[in-house]
Amino acid sequence: MCGIIGIIGKEPATPRLIEALKRLEYRGYDSAGVATLVDGHIERRRAAGKIVNLEKEIIDAPLAGNTGIGHTRWATHGAPTERNAHPHATARVAVVHNGIIENFRTLREELISQGYVFDSETDTEVITQLISHYLDKGETPREAVIKALARVRGAFAIACLFTGKEDLMIGARQGSPLVVGLGDGEIFLGSDAIAVAPFTNRIIYLEEGDLVEFSAKTYNIYDKDRKEIFRPVAIVSASAAAVEKGNYRHFMQKEIHEEPDAAARTIGHYLDPLDEKVSLPNCGINFAEIDQILIVGCGTAYLSGRVAEYWFEQLSGISCETDIASEFRYRRPVVAGRAAAIFISQSGETADTLEALRLCKKNGWKTLGVVNVATSSIAREADAVLETLAGPEIGVASTKAFVAQLSALAATAIAAGVAKGTIDAEREKDLARQLMETPRLIREALEMENAIEETANDISHAKSILYIGRGVSYPIALEAALKLKEISYIHAEGYAAGELKHGPIALIDEYTPVIAVAPYDELMEKTISNVQEIAARGGPITLLSDAKGIEEAADAVKHSVRAPECEPFQAPFVYSPLIHMLAYHVAVAKGTDVDQPRNLAKSVTVE
Ligand code: G6P
Repeated sequence: MCGIIGIIGKEPATPRLIEALKRLEYRGYDSAGVATLVDGHIERRRAAGKIVNLEKEIIDAPLAGNTGIGHTRWATHGAPTERNAHPHATARVAVVHNGIIENFRTLREELISQGYVFDSETDTEVITQLISHYLDKGETPREAVIKALARVRGAFAIACLFTGKEDLMIGARQGSPLVVGLGDGEIFLGSDAIAVAPFTNRIIYLEEGDLVEFSAKTYNIYDKDRKEIFRPVAIVSASAAAVEKGNYRHFMQKEIHEEPDAAARTIGHYLDPLDEKVSLPNCGINFAEIDQILIVGCGTAYLSGRVAEYWFEQLSGISCETDIASEFRYRRPVVAGRAAAIFISQSGETADTLEALRLCKKNGWKTLGVVNVATSSIAREADAVLETLAGPEIGVASTKAFVAQLSALAATAIAAGVAKGTIDAEREKDLARQLMETPRLIREALEMENAIEETANDISHAKSILYIGRGVSYPIALEAALKLKEISYIHAEGYAAGELKHGPIALIDEYTPVIAVAPYDELMEKTISNVQEIAARGGPITLLSDAKGIEEAADAVKHSVRAPECEPFQAPFVYSPLIHMLAYHVAVAKGTDVDQPRNLAKSVTVE
């Protein structure tokens, strides 16, 4: 995923383009660039690496002009070099693009055979050259863009700047988000509201297939059939656009500390605290009529689904299956009876999850999106939506969004149980009370940060780390391993504790730390046996458990971190902040780029 920005403004564009790109940097950060019109000519500055490199470039060679576009890239086609950095330009047009053009090879060959010369290895450049081609033929900029886009297949959001046209910009979206920001005598284009937040809070969310043509003061939007269309203006709240680190060292640390609020807001949205009942206003699914639940997502979102799978089966008795979106969409899933499919996504834009949703709709299965961005594609296309109220998440490694997903899914699982009649009014109240307690328990877990940091410093030299857990703690172990590897670059695996002896125990030695996620519950004794097996083979163990659990296993473990006591239903909430903090502090100890780990992007809008 890349970030794009466009400005027709009253003041120099470059500093504002850079400011917006910094707010978009979470979307991709392997190269960046800007282009403005200087005396009607397209001028560019581009740099490999992060935006600071581009800033240095601009200090050496300043860039004037009030009209400009900018881009921060997550490479798909072509290495992250300066040459492949956007904007891509010809003498007539400059383009920034987020997405993938699938038929770029054919188009590129066709254009080369007509004498067009390509400058980069990117798929984006075919859009630039195609637009140029139609401009060469005498088309207006709008017609040239429309004709070019009609020839490309794939997902995109673009912004285009035209030679000699200071008061014109064109944007279009198909498969990737794009917003228009309405300022006072200036108009902006951005990948999201966060990008344009410093300039305006009046936002138009473009719909799938839309094209916008604008000047500093006027704009026209055309739908996918190129008919002029009205799109409403939304006022974006300051909090929705807030991307400040505050007193925290990293966004990730701040966001971990926001986990109690993310849970409280989301739970508060789906529970009636007075009646102690669940109420899912927009759920749109009658679980009484459902025989099978499918849960689909990618990365951390998928893992919140793995936790929810236990809840749905235990609380409602409905058969539930969770899959990774990129596998689900190609494996021809078979369902027995009436199915409901739940799509979990922080961004609501992940390409594989979105395609899996479209597949389920085609099959006639009820679809429910659990998303953190209410205006996203998944939110728009699902039959019904449950919003997770985590607020904007900037750290590439997802933390508070995971906890908010657990919150919405826990409430949904209770609702499913109530609908199926497997939960009576008393049990519903009990579970609702348990959910309402979780923000406090998360807060208590966060108080263990010092103990976590100590363990983190100790294990940060390891080459490989294993996490184990049973029951709902197994997907938490998976999430722990994912989080650790993505930000600390230490190889890590999550394993079902009982499965350890069927292979991974061969890895155990004094240099391979094992972290056991083991709340004191009905499975604790069995996990303790696994812990003993590891200890007997010299493996250094860190136990994440409550006071009772720690007492039971004290002799076998090197470190223990005491979590607050909780009910089994609450455990995923309580242990999430612990494993998130552990990954965070290991990464800090290793000195990695916590908020923008190498090779990753916040949301992946390509297959
Ligand atoms: C990327 C991110 C992960 C995230 C996953 C799914 O890989 O780096 O943190 O969990 O995408 O993203 P989504 O927006 O669909 O939750």
